[in-house]
Amino acid sequence: MVTAFTAAETTAMATALKAALNGPRGANPLVGAVIVDPQGRELVTGFHRGAGTAHAEVDAIAQAAAAGIDLSGCTMLVTLEPCNHLGRTGPCARAIIDAGITDVVYAVDDPHDPAAGGAATLRQAGVRVRAGLGAGEALDLNRQWFEAVAAKRPFVTLHIAQTLDSRIAAEDGTSQWISCPESLADNHAVRGRIDAILVGTQTVLVDNPRLTARDAAGNPATKQPVRAVMGLRDIPADAAVHGSDGLVLHLPTRDPREALSSLYGSGMRHLMVEGGSRILSAFLAAGLVDELIVYLAPTLLGSGTPALTGLGITTLADAQQWEWDASDGGAVRTLGRDLRLHLRPQRTVALDPQPSRATAEQAQGGY
Ligand SMILES: NC(=O)c1ccc[n+]([C@@H]2O[C@H](COP(=O)([O-])OP(=O)(O)OC[C@H]3O[C@@H](n4cnc5c(N)ncnc54)[C@H](OP(=O)(O)O)[C@@H]3O)[C@@H](O)[C@H]2O)c1
Repeated sequence: MVTAFTAAETTAMATALKAALNGPRGANPLVGAVIVDPQGRELVTGFHRGAGTAHAEVDAIAQAAAAGIDLSGCTMLVTLEPCNHLGRTGPCARAIIDAGITDVVYAVDDPHDPAAGGAATLRQAGVRVRAGLGAGEALDLNRQWFEAVAAKRPFVTLHIAQTLDSRIAAEDGTSQWISCPESLADNHAVRGRIDAILVGTQTVLVDNPRLTARDAAGNPATKQPVRAVMGLRDIPADAAVHGSDGLVLHLPTRDPREALSSLYGSGMRHLMVEGGSRILSAFLAAGLVDELIVYLAPTLLGSGTPALTGLGITTLADAQQWEWDASDGGAVRTLGRDLRLHLRPQRTVALDPQPSRATAEQAQGGY
């Protein structure tokens, strides 16, 4: 059966897909939602701002409530099937029913088991539900997230703070700070919304970082990431990474897959890999990076530790290809004197228009 969509619905779905890009990538997918009135006029647009915040549907409904807009008989267009579970923010299906919305059009199924089933709940309540509008774009929007959920591993953000000539430390080992204060603040904001941060044992031995999320004055953020150290050597007992809260994990392995599996088993759904170069290279070489954030300082060293030590590539045809990521503030931003570059792996395979529901438990850090 071919599902029919109106021109207004197609336009509104395009608005929802664009709105989704305002959010940050991570444990949760990017989602946008638009509510149109029975004449097809767009009333409100919502998007998801990341794990632990209102979902796009609830954001849109809240905006309508704040503006005193009655949503009875309206249609919601949303880029992902509305969720059906309590999670940290309440089920979207229930919020949609309570708002009096009578039609829902969504792009793709939610593969995340605890959240799935929203469409069935809506239908049971008498809401007309149609799926598939904008499915290709919606899948592409979150293709790394779908991949991470299916693989039962955390979504991986890779962070590199480097000079113009791709150095992350000088010859004498000094690396603090290559980035300007604005970039550091941005990095700490990301730290405040991830589940875990990972460095290699060498970085712990050389830099002795705390790996906490802090504001510009050095005060700790409310939410702190678990600090993970990867490598076979022990972490010195007096290393700053131990902190006082016990949120530290030693991963005695050199295998990125094993590290991810262990972190996933500990409930981590969004990991940021911070370095150093051998760790960054290991994750990149294994094809386990979903998002790349590079802080590029207008600085030259000419020597020192390179950002990457090798990806096993010997010919240009095998080069890793990345594409600019327009989400979360854009692909290229100026932060103080630095540039912040935001990328994601270039798509290499055709997308399945209807991903099967994975059995993943994208819990905790996720929905
Ligand atoms: N600018 C930045 O943003 C930034 C961030 C972090 C670090 N850094 C700099 O990076 C430098 C450290 O980089 P690095 O490359 O020497 O050390 P690293 O990547 O921090 O750690 C390397 C160590 O990790 C372990 N390891 C775990 N998995 C591995 C794998 N797949 N391949 C290789 N080693 C693995 C090994 O130690 P075991 O023997 O214990 O297994 C290895 O010696 C420091 O100078 C630091 O200042 C800069």
